[in-house]
Amino acid sequence: MVEKTAHISWDNQTSFELPIYNPSLGKQVIDISTLGNLGAFTYDPGFFSTASCESKITYINGEKGILLHRGYPIEQLSEKKTFLDVAYALLYGDLPTKTQSLGFEQKIKDNAGVDASFTNILQALPKNAHPMGMLISLVGALSAVHNINYDLNCVEHREKACIELIAKLPTLAAMCYRHSIGAECIAPDLSLNYAENFIYMLFGDKPSNTIAKALDVIFTLHADHEQNASTSTVRLAGSTGTDPYAAVAAGIAALWGAAHGGANEACLKMLQEIGDISKIPEYLSKAKDKNDPFRLMGFGHRVYKNHDPRATVMRKICHDVLDSIHAHNDPLFKLAMELERIALMDNYFVERKLYPNIDFYSGITLSAVGIPTNMFTVIFALARTSGWVSQWFEMTSSSLKIGRPRQLYTGEQERTVAI
Ligand code: SDX
Repeated sequence: MVEKTAHISWDNQTSFELPIYNPSLGKQVIDISTLGNLGAFTYDPGFFSTASCESKITYINGEKGILLHRGYPIEQLSEKKTFLDVAYALLYGDLPTKTQSLGFEQKIKDNAGVDASFTNILQALPKNAHPMGMLISLVGALSAVHNINYDLNCVEHREKACIELIAKLPTLAAMCYRHSIGAECIAPDLSLNYAENFIYMLFGDKPSNTIAKALDVIFTLHADHEQNASTSTVRLAGSTGTDPYAAVAAGIAALWGAAHGGANEACLKMLQEIGDISKIPEYLSKAKDKNDPFRLMGFGHRVYKNHDPRATVMRKICHDVLDSIHAHNDPLFKLAMELERIALMDNYFVERKLYPNIDFYSGITLSAVGIPTNMFTVIFALARTSGWVSQWFEMTSSSLKIGRPRQLYTGEQERTVAI
């Protein structure tokens, strides 16, 4: 992999040659792993310029707005394949044949149930607790149950954990919703497909084909996204050899933040707060004001400095869903489109390459499907579990090296404790 080296020197005496690795797509990387032994650390808070691992799963080109899963463009996957077929490709490296697809779907159905004791765990939580907090508790509890006779070194055990997590997340997510409205949990209906069954476990009835298809595409759009904050959390937790359920619980916790997966919930609340197109200029001024903590939720991205390809697909889904329920005049959708139009003409956003991201339209779409706002990030976590477990499976399939970053220490020099 090494064809060139990077020459580095930080004083006049010594200089070093560091290997440069060539990717199959994207930027070259400089291997700095020996730098620590040579007397210096690199410094990159927020990891703007740091490749934390090697991966074959997802490729993002932020400048061109490209997203590939196992080489397949997200636009084609979301149009032509089901979420479970995409989850299969993330996990195993290629899209499934018809037989493999049916076999994988059956495995997911076979593992969709959860032990009745999980209802007791949920009962112990207040109904008005945030469903993301409930979900962390339930997935964390699964790690307690799953850990019995689990061998990290056994590939079959690792694969089974991945399948169980993809299978059980919809059931656990729906349980959180049912508890939050004080209703009985609904057991999975295995005659339904993955998206239909989720809606059924939420509301007790089978959704229209349009709604089920829209939700399945929303799952696909959220499935994986390279080394984002929550995936990096799952990888770092998993690098210690911890249980995969525990690592996914950590990923759910990281996703909850408003700067990450929590932005879909925050974006809908922001649109409701703006309320009217006439208020857009006032809120754009707040977003641009350095002294105002307000930011335009659903706008901007660490990697995309062009349109987020998922947002483009999401906007069309949003439009189709609203049309299907004769709500194409939905005031929030019209407000969102006008906000996008005005922001993308505003120099502040254009200069900083701040475009709508996946969270900008997902909230309106989920709301139109009847999903309550506090469940938006739960649905993001449900879908992203396929990416988290695939990244964890890839990492644990080669020699595991614990992640342990260093720091720039700017604290006290050594000093003596006064008597
Ligand atoms: C997701 O990483 C992933 O892949 C994540 C994700 C995935 O699928 O896993 O894609 C999902 O998390 C999407 C992002 C959802 N978050 C939001 O929509 C929240 C609003 N967005 C911002 O918080 C922000 O854009 C981030 C957190 C997404 C990215 O922040 P960065 O890369 O750290 O950028 P920055 O904060 O350094 O901002 C650069 C400039 C700053 O202004 P200056 O100091 O240069 O003058 O842009 C400004 C920021 O103030 N800016 C914004 C803004 N986002 C950045 N100003 C107003 N509104 C915003 N939303």
